[in-house]
Amino acid sequence: MTVSFRDLPLEDLAKTIGTVVVFASASALTEAADAADAASGGAIERARGAERFTGKEGEVLDVPAPAGMKASRLLVVGTGEESLTANSARTIGGKLGAALGKLDEAGATVFAEGFGDDLLLAKMALGVRLRRYSFVKYRTESDPSTDRGPGKITIGVADSKGAQKADIDANAIAEGTFFTRDLVSEPANILYPESFTERLRGLGDLGVEVSTLDEDDMAKLGMNALLAVGLGSRRESRVVIMKWMGADDKDAAPFCVVGKGVTFDTGGISIKPAGGMEEMTMDMGGAGVVSGLMKTLAMRKAKANVIGVVGLTENMPDGNATRPGDIVTAMSGTTIEIINTDAEGRLVLADVLHYTQNAFKPKATINLATLTGAMIVALGYDKAGFFSNDDGLSAQLQAAADNEEEGLWRLPLGKAYDDQIKSRLADIKNTGGRHAGSITAAQFLKRFVDDSPWAHIDIAGVALSKDVKPTVPKGASGWGVATLDRLVRDVFEDSAGA
Ligand code: BES
Ligand code: MN
Ligand code: ZN
Repeated sequence: MTVSFRDLPLEDLAKTIGTVVVFASASALTEAADAADAASGGAIERARGAERFTGKEGEVLDVPAPAGMKASRLLVVGTGEESLTANSARTIGGKLGAALGKLDEAGATVFAEGFGDDLLLAKMALGVRLRRYSFVKYRTESDPSTDRGPGKITIGVADSKGAQKADIDANAIAEGTFFTRDLVSEPANILYPESFTERLRGLGDLGVEVSTLDEDDMAKLGMNALLAVGLGSRRESRVVIMKWMGADDKDAAPFCVVGKGVTFDTGGISIKPAGGMEEMTMDMGGAGVVSGLMKTLAMRKAKANVIGVVGLTENMPDGNATRPGDIVTAMSGTTIEIINTDAEGRLVLADVLHYTQNAFKPKATINLATLTGAMIVALGYDKAGFFSNDDGLSAQLQAAADNEEEGLWRLPLGKAYDDQIKSRLADIKNTGGRHAGSITAAQFLKRFVDDSPWAHIDIAGVALSKDVKPTVPKGASGWGVATLDRLVRDVFEDSAGA
């Protein structure tokens, strides 16, 4: 599916074939809707009169075979009464995308004259793209509930130059989000640490500098916590480093983003119950968001130094697997008693966080991970939880998520929780008991970060969307790509604050 802008005079409206789309609110038709109403002999005004169309945000009036027009159907999409914002434009685009997805049409032409400025047009296009995403790679028979809709969507205004420019950034967010969704959707027999690494190498084409650590490299660095997770797997573990040094000063301290990339989590020897275990193909969701963000930043040529680092491994039971009770020494030197091999994400992050801060001296570090089921107990599926050692970074991150309308809520850290992860034999243990499970996991991570600003986002509940939202189909959501792109834009980019 492609969505693109082009110059389109309103005179073309009556002679355009396929699906024609225009916008209207309760009180006013846009210029394009006015033209469609005139061409169709008043079809829109008649529908408004009969209250079949009230112009609410994202409401869709479907006029089949409109008289006086070449189109096979005319869709009128409501814009609501409030003045449009970037987010409402994106939502309206999402709802338009959903409506188009139910049609059997080869092409759709959106006459957007009068919709709003270039940014709003681009956000609308973003919404259409985000909603129309589907992961169909492994289907040999098409599914009419998801696979319909036009393959080519053209959005036209009289002069589309500005919208095309604004659309570069919007399209970058869509493509980054799709990269995340694709990675999260892939099954674990296809996406394992080495094949994941190969996909990330593809970012090299966009100018991202991609390098890797293999198991020998990790062993030399002392990354025994990460390596312990992969011991039971036939697949080798990997760390992948993605550098986008887009700031004018290439030596300026980077913003680092770290991801948990457990390509499958059986639980290891502390094996999970069979029911629902297949969902653990998404346990690389944190690494997926980091990868998607790097793609977005490179595609829009962000003027910021950002380094993404992902720890990729597979957690399997095996004769060589880590046992409950094993003690490992992490790269930082801290010793860890592994009580439960299913609390593996924090072992991966312990070494990757330490490595990242050591190697790159970041301005700030944010890690993302599908870390704890307890996060879902606490916040459900609507909001991710985050933890931070820095109120400034927390406020910036929260503002970015609020601006992008991605659910996010801060939870506490605190010395008292450290008692729960004290080990009888080693410095710390990898589980903290039944209570405050997400917090003790975060507290564990904190032991491996320095004093620079850091935040941990537990995305266990949001990496997969349980139901359809205006710009998120069911399944891999891509939660976080837009928020982190916004954070980079507002805080870490050369022009930030200007
Ligand atoms: N990957 C899981 C957490 C998870 C659960 C993510 C459900 C998404 C949906 C993580 O590795 C895990 O197994 N955590 C354990 C920790 C426990 C053993 C301390 C958990 O949450 O049960
Ligand atoms: Mn686990
Ligand atoms: Zn896990």
